[in-house]
Amino acid sequence: MAMCRLACVAGLALALCAGGPTPALAAPEAGRGDGVRTDISRWVAPYFTEADAVPSYATEKALRATSPTAPGQIVPKFEKVEGGKHRAIIDITPGTSLYGTGEVGGPLLRNGRTITTWNTDAFGYKPETPSLYQSHPWVLAVRPDGTAFGVLADTTWRCEINLENGIQFTAEGNPFPVFIIERASPQEVLKGLTKLIDPMPLPPLWALGYHQCRYSYNPEARVREIAQGFRDRDIPADVIWFDIDYMLGFRTFSFSPFEFPDVKKLNEDLGKMGWRRIWMINPGVKADALGASTNDPTTEQVDAASPEIKARYEAELARFRAIRESGDKNNVWVRNAQGEIYQGAVWPGMCVFPDFTRPDVRTWWAGLYKDFMGYGVDGVWNDMNEPAIFNVASKTMPEDNKHEGGTEPFGEVKPGDHARFHNVYGMLMAKGTYDGIKATIPDRRPFVLTRAGYIGSQRYAATWTGDNSSDWNDLEQSIPMIINLGISGQPFSGPDIGGFIGNGPRDPAERALQFSRWMGVGALFPFSRGHTAKGNIDKEPWSFGPATELVSKLSLQRRYRLMPYYYTLFREASVTNMPVMRPVFFADPKDPALRSEDDCFLIGDAILVVPQLQPDSTRRPIEPRGIWRPFTLVNEGGSPAMKDMPVLKLKGGSIVPAGPIMEFTAEKPLDPLTLLVSLDASGGARGELYEDAGDGFGYTKGEFLVTRYGATTANGVVTVDVIGTDGQMKRPANRRVIVEIITDAGILRGEGTDGQPITIKLP
Ligand code: NOJ
Repeated sequence: MAMCRLACVAGLALALCAGGPTPALAAPEAGRGDGVRTDISRWVAPYFTEADAVPSYATEKALRATSPTAPGQIVPKFEKVEGGKHRAIIDITPGTSLYGTGEVGGPLLRNGRTITTWNTDAFGYKPETPSLYQSHPWVLAVRPDGTAFGVLADTTWRCEINLENGIQFTAEGNPFPVFIIERASPQEVLKGLTKLIDPMPLPPLWALGYHQCRYSYNPEARVREIAQGFRDRDIPADVIWFDIDYMLGFRTFSFSPFEFPDVKKLNEDLGKMGWRRIWMINPGVKADALGASTNDPTTEQVDAASPEIKARYEAELARFRAIRESGDKNNVWVRNAQGEIYQGAVWPGMCVFPDFTRPDVRTWWAGLYKDFMGYGVDGVWNDMNEPAIFNVASKTMPEDNKHEGGTEPFGEVKPGDHARFHNVYGMLMAKGTYDGIKATIPDRRPFVLTRAGYIGSQRYAATWTGDNSSDWNDLEQSIPMIINLGISGQPFSGPDIGGFIGNGPRDPAERALQFSRWMGVGALFPFSRGHTAKGNIDKEPWSFGPATELVSKLSLQRRYRLMPYYYTLFREASVTNMPVMRPVFFADPKDPALRSEDDCFLIGDAILVVPQLQPDSTRRPIEPRGIWRPFTLVNEGGSPAMKDMPVLKLKGGSIVPAGPIMEFTAEKPLDPLTLLVSLDASGGARGELYEDAGDGFGYTKGEFLVTRYGATTANGVVTVDVIGTDGQMKRPANRRVIVEIITDAGILRGEGTDGQPITIKLP
């Protein structure tokens, strides 16, 4: 992304002029290290004492030393710096490429960049904005020979990650340990990280479908119109979202009966059309429960309402008041330095905030979902949980606010200032939400989307990249952002497709083009959701005219055809936390040419995605070497829409499972199963398909089926067959299998029954 890089370099120069590194108080000293697992070590400063140790929110587990000396080549150095800060320094050899640092704007390659972990409501962020919504004090380093190491700074405090000259973490608060993972490849390092932070849970299949959102779809009639609009046009989608305007005067957990007179019925009706429903819950709870709020109905509205609506209105207010009072009774709110309940302004005016660092408060919060989910809610969107506070320069609560902590399974969390807990506040809210959904509907997999997060928040929630802008840069930058989040432990993320802020280019043709291209690539992101801000033009797939509607439809049909592959990749992520969307350098970590490439990417290992990211760019991204064969999925090959859709290429030696086009993931069973095959130089290929019930936890008891397919070539005949299986789920009886061998000269087709060998004669 050449444009952005220039801008970032300029931004960095400014940052350096303005501040510069914090001076050290004494020469850095080598740390003390212990192996905590084979090839994972934990290091502390020589001056670190047991009193400095705090339970780790990154790992949420107590790790015991397994060996007195740490393995590997890396020995971090530590120093104290001015302002009571602590620094860990990790040298790198020339030619080492650096990645990760979580949710960051700008290019994929992070060498030369500095960011600060401090969860921030970063409305309209730019490539060089130093702090976005999430904090991942983690760097992946890939050496010139393709071997790699990763460094996790185990601190929740504000932490500067400076990658100008090696790796430096400079954090406020207590001295912090660093974990070092040294392995043979970047992928192996990420698996090592997963040993520390655990993988994401397997999401329900529907969450991998397309999500349609806006701020906000209201009233109810508009929601129905949008939902029907997708079905009438045969545009695949699974989930419709309810942003804050559904609430009664923005009171969290309440529903406005003026906008949504019968939430249960609406959710039920949408469910019958195959829609899942996600409703927003914010952390700020209106302080003066029944006092006036922005977005409250007017007196005239209330007076003119039917007796039934009036009764619901009263009931909603009473319900909310009960929540507010139960919070008081349980003493759940964050307090300020003076010991008073802290209040900060958000949507409904002044709010109070649960202290999510307290396990009992999370349990209280989780309990609120019992009632809420009962309205037919399928998933929950936790927004504004940095927490974002309006009208203060810091955009958040005072750093000397108090949190209580408590006894966690991973250790005793002592009380402390907000400064220490700020970066985990959002993750802990999402954890409470996840637990609440799980307790309420124990036989379904919870789905939570959180805006704020910390390394490890993949354990509870997916994420999106916040309030991006409808411009070409943000379309382009969404690729490295999602990849770096994946490299930093969050495999399930995506941007607001189409951009949140603004309407896009002025010229209607260019505006439509931008939306088409965003949809083309956005349909392939792990989390795929269209969203836009209040007051913006409509941004449904059909809002930009027939050409964009066609691109959107074909792009989403691609995603739905690839659903078996995506689900298989999410299953892998739920075991190893391996990113679903991967950088192209994963295909060949030794190839230096791929190290900064972020205009194309991989889905899993087998599919290369080469999108169109600028209106008139002639830049050709650098693709991995080897066999990569272009293929199509929905007969888009002959369509004019193709020019705005990414080119897809299938790696030689791989088999990708695909299904029929569907309007939503539960519409049809996976039949026929298509196996897309790209043979390697010796005529072989391999691939895997994971299947289960699509929801629930039966899979944890063996109710799943993994099928490994293999292709071999002998005497001019390709045989595709099952070469291995796992799990106890029965193979669907008589499932039709279509094999499509993609060759340079065209597609060779064969057909048969799943579980039986299928042979295709080569021409
Ligand atoms: C901020 C979020 O980032 C955005 O996605 C949402 O639409 C608004 N809050 C309103 O809830």
